[in-house]
Amino acid sequence: MKKELFGVTTGGKTVYLYTFENKNGMKMTVSDFGAVLTHLWVPGKDGQLVDVVLGYDQLAQYENNNNVYFGATIGRNANRIDQGKFEIDGQVYQVDQNEGENQLHGGFSGYHTRPWLVKEVDELNQKIVFLLFSPDGDQGFPGNLSLEVSYQLTDLNELIISYTGESDKKTVFNPTNHTYFNLNGHANGTILEHLLQLDCSYYTPVKDSKSIPTGEVLPVANTPMDFKQSKKIGRDINQIAEQLQLTGGYDHNYVLDETKQETEAFVHLIGDQTGISLKGYTNLPGVQLYTGNFIEQEAGKNGVNYQKYSGLCLETQFFPDAVNQVNFKSPYIEENVQTVYETSYCFDA
Ligand code: BGC
Repeated sequence: MKKELFGVTTGGKTVYLYTFENKNGMKMTVSDFGAVLTHLWVPGKDGQLVDVVLGYDQLAQYENNNNVYFGATIGRNANRIDQGKFEIDGQVYQVDQNEGENQLHGGFSGYHTRPWLVKEVDELNQKIVFLLFSPDGDQGFPGNLSLEVSYQLTDLNELIISYTGESDKKTVFNPTNHTYFNLNGHANGTILEHLLQLDCSYYTPVKDSKSIPTGEVLPVANTPMDFKQSKKIGRDINQIAEQLQLTGGYDHNYVLDETKQETEAFVHLIGDQTGISLKGYTNLPGVQLYTGNFIEQEAGKNGVNYQKYSGLCLETQFFPDAVNQVNFKSPYIEENVQTVYETSYCFDA
């Protein structure tokens, strides 16, 4: 493991970058600032390393990472909460409303913009564990929550991200990771020619351009939302279809088939230029496919200007607004019960 100074935050905290390398030369870099993933170098067909995630060079940019959420660990709640309001056991909670009247990705002070503690560096298993304490009332959510996020890079070229949460009151625990992948390389154009296969038969449509779900769970069959068979991401993205027009591309929650085992991949993505492929596994019930529709001239790593569709996110999660939707699995954890979620992305060329 290599530890380098990343910088000093505006709040005066010194933060670092941690780089792990596996036996195949694959490397990941993460920071104790925001528990963000900043770099992921994967060997391509020719053995050359390709950095397949979008990101920034400067700490100050990660401190203002509230539009695009590059590499971000999101908490307490991934995606949106309608009106920032919900009820637990008869008690109404009003949480931060940071996107119009709704909440997006935890509110004004997302976990991705805070310094975390390093709980453990496990050199043998190429793993780092970050720790965050989120007090009762933080972002408006109940309960003192202690949260661990670990990143592990295995010799099988897997990136394993796990989330462990425990709270002294029943609360929402719906973390995700907002990394944008571009398997052709972060600086190498858009993801529109990538081949994507998503093993999901259903998705949750949105009401309008504010992206609160209607509450329905609809089949993808015979719609441009269908990725059951592998297809180019750009193939149907410009179709005149209400759901795609509302969100300017794919920005939808897909439902993982309930019969799927955690050992079966829910997604298979291939970079058309490098041949690098990613397979994803999780024990969470949904995944937000977001094709970077709202990225506009974002100054990123190595002087690259990222654009619309420069990368795509595969955010494993409880469904959007699950706190208010009776049809959706609820994202609560019970008082004093430790809960663990895990998502892994496995790379090959
Ligand atoms: C959401 C998008 C949002 C983006 C922010 C995604 O998870 O689904 O609607 O614009 O995050 O970068």
